[in-house]
Amino acid sequence: MRVLITDSLAEEGIRKLKEEGFGVTHRKDVDEEELVKIIPDYVALIIRSGTKVTERVINAASNLKVIGRAGTGIDNINIEAATRRGIVVMNTPEGNTISAAEHTISMLLSLSRNIPQANLSLKKGIWDRKKFMGTEVYGKTLGIIGLGRIGSEVAKRARCLGMKVTAYDPFITKEKAEEIGAVLCEFDDLLSSADYLSVHTPLTDHTRGLIGEREFSLMKRGIRIINCARGGIIDEDALYEALKSGKVKGAALDVFERGKPFGSPLLELDSVIVTPHLGASTEEAQARVAVEIATQIADVLKRGIIKNAVNILSLSPHLKKKIGGYLSLIERIGSLSAQLMEGNLRGVEVIYRGELAEYEVKPLTVSLIKGLLGFVLKEDVNYVNAPVLAKERGIEISEVKTTEKKEYSSLIEVKIVSDRGELKIEGTVLERKIPYIVKVNDCSLEFIPQGYLLVCNSVDKPGAVGKISTLLGNYGINIAGLRMGRSAPGEENLSVYTLDTSPTSEVIEALRRIKEVLKAKLVHL
Ligand code: NAD
Ligand code: MLT
Repeated sequence: MRVLITDSLAEEGIRKLKEEGFGVTHRKDVDEEELVKIIPDYVALIIRSGTKVTERVINAASNLKVIGRAGTGIDNINIEAATRRGIVVMNTPEGNTISAAEHTISMLLSLSRNIPQANLSLKKGIWDRKKFMGTEVYGKTLGIIGLGRIGSEVAKRARCLGMKVTAYDPFITKEKAEEIGAVLCEFDDLLSSADYLSVHTPLTDHTRGLIGEREFSLMKRGIRIINCARGGIIDEDALYEALKSGKVKGAALDVFERGKPFGSPLLELDSVIVTPHLGASTEEAQARVAVEIATQIADVLKRGIIKNAVNILSLSPHLKKKIGGYLSLIERIGSLSAQLMEGNLRGVEVIYRGELAEYEVKPLTVSLIKGLLGFVLKEDVNYVNAPVLAKERGIEISEVKTTEKKEYSSLIEVKIVSDRGELKIEGTVLERKIPYIVKVNDCSLEFIPQGYLLVCNSVDKPGAVGKISTLLGNYGINIAGLRMGRSAPGEENLSVYTLDTSPTSEVIEALRRIKEVLKAKLVHL
């Protein structure tokens, strides 16, 4: 298996890949054209922020299974295209958190004490102490936008410097912010009260241009701004105007709208200090992210273990212990449903009942869709692209959790809705982690969803099941197991035969000709 690396990667990571037995090609500065040509030879691609993984590159990547980002930001990867093709995209979100936070604090202090400007001036032979009069950060308010991993570490360090910290992050609770030492507030309130502003969100369609003309107009005169997250979160034209007018006293930028900021008027301003995307550039962070991404790639390709995937839910060891056994059950329910249902699929409703409802069940729903669509669609369906494929096909999926128990401590109830009606299947995991189907429509019966299963609906009269068994015997098909159920005496009977071999279509046709047989379907799981 071959891995392509197209940005700088610490030697420790390359060594790890080789130890895992991968063939490694390390080529820096490969443009899109070249990447499109060479990518079909590789199963994995490792990048940092330099390589743009465009839709064209992904469409050419016929053998690619995984894209690994040694670092956090994934805005240089077309995730949608990768997801559509079933390619796992993973990053190493924790490896450089401390380095990026420390860089932010360095920028904050450099900005306050004019260190880069004073350094440059003195080296030019000028001894000027007045020009570089600074300001203390002690007692000042730092407004943080995005209180995630890096934002939180910045907040903690700023508190140690005696700063007040306010934060805006719609996805963080007040209690969590308090634990970190920040006061959560509204966006506009944060802007109007901060002496320093630092952004720490990802760059998305929602955060592009988050700080623009309107936002600058709300700020205190003399505010200092830091961006060690992503270029584009702060509108550079608006920032330039705010700096020129004196509204913003200074800006410290590690990242820029157009990657390298050459030619930007911002570079001409003394009040702007810059670094060339150095947030994660420490020996420790680089070694960490390189080894982490190499390990994650080996785990996914060699051992099927997925960690830090951004386009698929990864299971923590704790969650895996709690819901792992149900993954295989629900995927089989999906496949069984697809094989038994009639008509065109419209929607899926799933109820997680009992103890299972106490856990994160999203991975289970993804497994259900994978099982369902994997049978229905001809193209490759995997854990990455299953939800996208369902959405593209307008299949509505509803997920309900209830801790109220029925006969089993945990139960999964799936309802498949098609234009021809409904199919209901219930299942659970019983002793020794064995998955069981316990109900199909209104018929209660327990069977293991595995191998060749003949599912027959027949009239509930003596002799019907005997005729089916005899016919199978006549064709030399051994019955390994038989389970039967009915909703009420005299109602339709459901029998599920586990067969050692697959009957031919001729056998199925012969079964359907038995007058008591209403329906006969062969299922393979
Ligand atoms: P994270 O996912 O842990 O945190 C991001 C936070 O932003 C989350 O808490 C999220 O809720 C919040 N957020 C998202 N949209 C928001 C919005 N519209 N308004 C307010 N908050 C919003 O990410 P992280 O690891 O802390 O990384 C933060 C940023 O730093 C990313 O852009 C990443 O690419 C960048 N980064 C830069 C460097 C560097 O070298 N300069 C190094 C590492 C990471
Ligand atoms: C990141 O997102 O991890 C940083 O921008 C650092 C890097 O590009 O390596």
